Amino acid sequence: MKLMHVDASARRERSNSRALSRYFLECLRAEHVNLEVDYLDLSANPPAHVDEAFAIATYAPPHERTPAMKARLAASDALCQRVLAADALVFAMPMYNWSMPSVFKAFVDAISRAGVTYAHGPDGAIVGQLAGKKVLFITSRGADLRPGSPYASMDALTPALKAAFAFLGVATPTFVDAQPLQFANQEARAEALERARHELTAVAASWAKPASNANTQDAASYQDIDSEIAQ
Ligand SMILES: Cc1cc2nc3c(=O)[nH]c(=O)nc-3n(C[C@H](O)[C@H](O)[C@H](O)COP(=O)(O)O)c2cc1C
Repeated sequence: MKLMHVDASARRERSNSRALSRYFLECLRAEHVNLEVDYLDLSANPPAHVDEAFAIATYAPPHERTPAMKARLAASDALCQRVLAADALVFAMPMYNWSMPSVFKAFVDAISRAGVTYAHGPDGAIVGQLAGKKVLFITSRGADLRPGSPYASMDALTPALKAAFAFLGVATPTFVDAQPLQFANQEARAEALERARHELTAVAASWAKPASNANTQDAASYQDIDSEIAQ
């Protein structure tokens, strides 16, 4: 399995999301999944933010792009190819101010490319090119945002990730959310990490099973996405 493993925490050794993503890969190996890993540390190698040159170049028809436009898109092109080459994507990140770390948002901006990671179908519908890939988001949160918690309505991370990747064709990503990890006592933190590891073990076991229809994602479900969104 070609697996792209992306970490996005600003913390290194102390990072829970990094520890959990490493744990997930260990689980896959324990399930005898033959992994070819492409690792990306977004904290060490953050993609450039969208600037005017990118915003113009990305929507210019490829045959009209100048050498300067092509140069501005080169790093984004390379990231898209890495994502497209993977059978499975594992994205690990903390929640920062109720949403994703800015380095991960920059990554989403870099890999959301018309004619590369999404296409316009004959009827104008958007066809995401990441359909069929296994996708796992591992998120770590200081607070407890599970249903019933006072913070539950503050979760702007899960819907943002779902929307961005649905647009790219990922219909059914898996989420393992470790929470609460910071704004809680030691016992609650330990339980949250144990719960996350338990869920990751189960996800690894399901990824190790031979492909089934459950992993085949349906590009047709994006037909209601207005192609104008991409403009
Ligand atoms: C800048 C910053 C902003 C944060 N914002 C939130 C937040 O909005 N909600 C929350 O539950 N936790 C928040 N946290 C706590 C982290 O999500 C939590 O500690 C997480 O476990 C960190 O992941 P890591 O161990 O992989 O670095 C924030 C932490 C930092 C450093």
